[in-house]
Amino acid sequence: MATSLTVNGAAQEVDLPDDVPLLWVLRDALNLTGTKFGCGVAACGACTVHIDGQAVRACQVALGDVWGEVTTIEGLGTPETLHRLQQAWIDHQVAQCGYCQSGQIMQAAALLAETPAPSDDEIDAAMAGNLCRCGTYPRIRAAIRAAAQEA
Ligand code: FES
Ligand code: FES
Repeated sequence: MATSLTVNGAAQEVDLPDDVPLLWVLRDALNLTGTKFGCGVAACGACTVHIDGQAVRACQVALGDVWGEVTTIEGLGTPETLHRLQQAWIDHQVAQCGYCQSGQIMQAAALLAETPAPSDDEIDAAMAGNLCRCGTYPRIRAAIRAAAQEA
């Protein structure tokens, strides 16, 4: 049976079992490959997307359990109108290999939506579950601080 969901503002129908992780729905069925597979066990944050604005690990949410509107990195901004975090990421040259960065940005976007001017401790707490093998953590923090000041 097809399942209806809204992704990046567009209605979608996918013909997949209810227990398929949202991560694979996005990547394989909807070709939204900005969301990455890192661990599959909620340990890295590479797959972070929003459901109704809340940061979630797409590897841990089954299709049948999606409770609201999904936003992925492709829907956060547009090439013409970047989200302020995306611009800050560019300004601070955050990415190294880049693999973790869409998850980092989605996690940070949920933080700023809830806490527009986070302290360093709040940034560290919110971002603690998003790993970066390239060690870009100082630049990530700097970019989040810069984006927060712009708000
Ligand atoms: S792939 Fe989902 S947390 Fe690592
Ligand atoms: S930029 Fe390479 S894993 Fe984070």
